Amino acid sequence: MKIGIDRLSFYTSNYFVDLKTLAEARSVDPEKYYSGIGQEKMGIPPPDEDVVTLAASAAFPLMKDGELDDVELLLFATESGIDQSKAAGIYVHGLLEMSSRCRTVELKQACYSGTAGLQLAIGFVARNPGKKALVIASDIARYELGSPGESTQGCGAVAMLVSADPRLLAIDPECGYHTEDVMDFWRPNYRSEALVDGKYSTMVYIHTLLETWKQYAGLTGRALADFDHFCYHIPFTKMAEKAHQKLARKCKEPVDREQLHRLLEESLRYSRVTGNCYSGSMYVGLASLLDTAEADLAGRRIGLYSYGSGCVGEFFSGVVQPGYRDFLYADQHRNLLENRTELTYQQYEDIFNYGVPTDGGEYVFPQYKTGPFRFSGISQHKREYESLVD
Ligand code: HMG
Repeated sequence: MKIGIDRLSFYTSNYFVDLKTLAEARSVDPEKYYSGIGQEKMGIPPPDEDVVTLAASAAFPLMKDGELDDVELLLFATESGIDQSKAAGIYVHGLLEMSSRCRTVELKQACYSGTAGLQLAIGFVARNPGKKALVIASDIARYELGSPGESTQGCGAVAMLVSADPRLLAIDPECGYHTEDVMDFWRPNYRSEALVDGKYSTMVYIHTLLETWKQYAGLTGRALADFDHFCYHIPFTKMAEKAHQKLARKCKEPVDREQLHRLLEESLRYSRVTGNCYSGSMYVGLASLLDTAEADLAGRRIGLYSYGSGCVGEFFSGVVQPGYRDFLYADQHRNLLENRTELTYQQYEDIFNYGVPTDGGEYVFPQYKTGPFRFSGISQHKREYESLVD
């Protein structure tokens, strides 16, 4: 039985900062961001957007299409948690009016947790082939103002329906995975911005890629040449390109610029203009590849590398299914990205410094342009969400 991703929907904030604006404020050559790290824009969530509204907005098209009726498992992957106890997915479950016969859990392991969700969901479907699972990965990437990581900020969510006989991508059973206790990136409970050892984190990312690939290649006998495209975890697009070059050299199958472009470029388009979406980032890359590839990818094998600092990594793969184009949300994704509002530097800094109040007071948030749902306020220590759907 084939199991995998049946539908894939992506959402990001309606607001962005162009990195030339940030470059000017930081007195940096914009080319450092545009070509040095390969990023053009970063998505910035307004005060009434959080991981719940991003997630519910990502899954909303699936709800409208009646795709959530057989879902009995909702896995919410995030490292931007809003509560130490209650799973953020329960708010999403309510906003999307899902059936109460559903298990809902939050998962955490930095940017890897979306893949943990996918693999757990595949196990659930293997045991319950008529049922489906909804995996949502939703995050807001925040680093300190003026820090090296600042230009790699972003936000977004992906919603993946996991089922038997998937219409988009059948996931192959073999995987290489690796856990190692390292401090490359972390966020203690008392901080709202991550701490990161930036250069070290890029080395661990690559080391983990080589380890997971070694296992995967040993299990499958496949070589890099057996893949038509690759989707990497994308903290910034240059990271994915460098990682692939390193892997290719290690496998003695080096790639030139043109080959690298053919293998990766389509998967990097969305991330270049949204920034890091942490747990959802690799799947934003997958949506970007499926939505924007000119060639018909049916029957093609995609290599997938997921990495979460701390760290856990996984190399796995999937085969694109015939007719997949009829089940994409490509037009919605294009509209979303084309109709965002650009922020000035001052607007960005004001939003950044606003933060969600933590004093336990009563708050009603002003309404910004968001998707179908908004985080409207806090009352009696409870977050309040509003549906803008008729
Ligand atoms: P930095 O140290 O300021 O940048 O920040 P740099 O000086 O290394 O420059 C970056 C690149 O721009 C270099 O290219 C420069 O040469 C080039 P390279 O040598 O690497 O090929 N450059 C220019 N190019 C053109 N024109 C110019 C110019 N100037 C310089 N004028 C750093 C880089 C990655 C450290 C920073 O962005 C950072 O700390 N980012 C956050 C951490 C991160 O993203 N790590 C990635 C791996 S870990 C991961 O992916 C997990 C994560 O998603 C979290 C999770 O799992 O939860 C982060």
